[in-house]
Amino acid sequence: MKYFQHVADLGDLRQAVNEALEVKANRYAYKHLGENKTLLMIFFNSSLRTRLSTQKAAMNLGMNVIVLDVNQGAWKLETERGVIMDGDKPEHLLEAIPVMGCYCDVIGVRSFARFENKADDYEEKILSQFIKYSGRPVFAMETATVHPLQSFADLITIEEHKTVERPKVVLTWAPHPKALPQAVPNSFAEWMNAAGYDLVITHPHGYELDPQFVGNAIVEYDQDKALAGAHFVYAKNWSAYADPNYGKVLSTDRSWTITTEKMALTDNGYFMHCLPVRRNMIVSDDVIESDHSLVIPEAANREISAQVVLKRILEGLK
Ligand code: CP
Repeated sequence: MKYFQHVADLGDLRQAVNEALEVKANRYAYKHLGENKTLLMIFFNSSLRTRLSTQKAAMNLGMNVIVLDVNQGAWKLETERGVIMDGDKPEHLLEAIPVMGCYCDVIGVRSFARFENKADDYEEKILSQFIKYSGRPVFAMETATVHPLQSFADLITIEEHKTVERPKVVLTWAPHPKALPQAVPNSFAEWMNAAGYDLVITHPHGYELDPQFVGNAIVEYDQDKALAGAHFVYAKNWSAYADPNYGKVLSTDRSWTITTEKMALTDNGYFMHCLPVRRNMIVSDDVIESDHSLVIPEAANREISAQVVLKRILEGLK
C-alpha cells in the first residue's frame, strides 16, 4: 500500500479487521519491518490521539519518528501557486514538501478543512500535493474531508463489541459552538457502509453530508426515531456541507445532545465519539462516563489502526 485515504485503500475489509486483531494480540511481532525507516508526521492542526497513537504504532514497528508542527517553529508556508511572496510566509509548500521527503520514508499529514474554498477542501489540496511532490508513501491523519485512521479504529471497536452480525449504527449530529469539518462523519459513513452495517444518519435540516459518503445510508431527520433500536450511537458535530452554507454553524440546538434519555431509546446501545468531545454539548456526563461508553476503547484502537496502515506501507516499500 502506498497511500491511505479511503476504506478502499485497505482492500478486503474483513481481512484488514482480522489483521488488526492479530496486531493487537501481538503488537511487537513486526518490529523488524521498520528498522532504519523513518516516519515523518506533519501537523498543520492540533492533535492528542493521532500524534501519540501513530507515534506509538511506528515505534511498535521499529521505526524512527520525526514530528513537525508546521505552526510552531517552522517557516510559515505559502500554499498558493502564483502568489508574489512579499507577505509573512517565507517558504512555499512546493519546496517544503520535497525537502521533507528527503528526510523520511513515510509521511503522515494532518491538515483540516480551511472553509475558505469548498473545492480546495474537497479536492484535498494540501494532501494531494504531498502525494504528488513528496516522492513518499503518504497517509491521512485527518485531512480536509476524511479521517480514515479514526474510522478504522471505530470499526475495530464495533467488531469487538457487537452482539449481532449486522448492527444498527446511528451517526448523529450533535451541537457544538464552533464550525467543525465534515471529515469524521464523512469517513465514518464511508467505513460503516463498506462494513455492510445498518447505517442511519440523523441531523437537523441543512446538515446533509456529501452524498458520495452517505451512500446507501438512511437519512432520518427525527433523532429519536433514528436512535430507536440502535446498537451503536456515534455522535459528532459537523458544519454545513451544502452550498451556500458550506462551513457554517446553522444550529446549536441542545435537544440533539446525547443524554441518558436518548440512549434509553436504543437497544442497550453503546455510545461512541472520536474525541476530543465537549461534554454537555455533544454528550451528557452520565452517558460518556457510563459502562456503555466506548470512547476510551476507540482511542486505544487508534494505535492498532495506525499500526496496520504503517505495516502495510512498510511491506510495500522496496
Ligand atoms: N480523534 C482524534 O483524531 O483526536 P486528535 O485530534 O486528538 O488527534
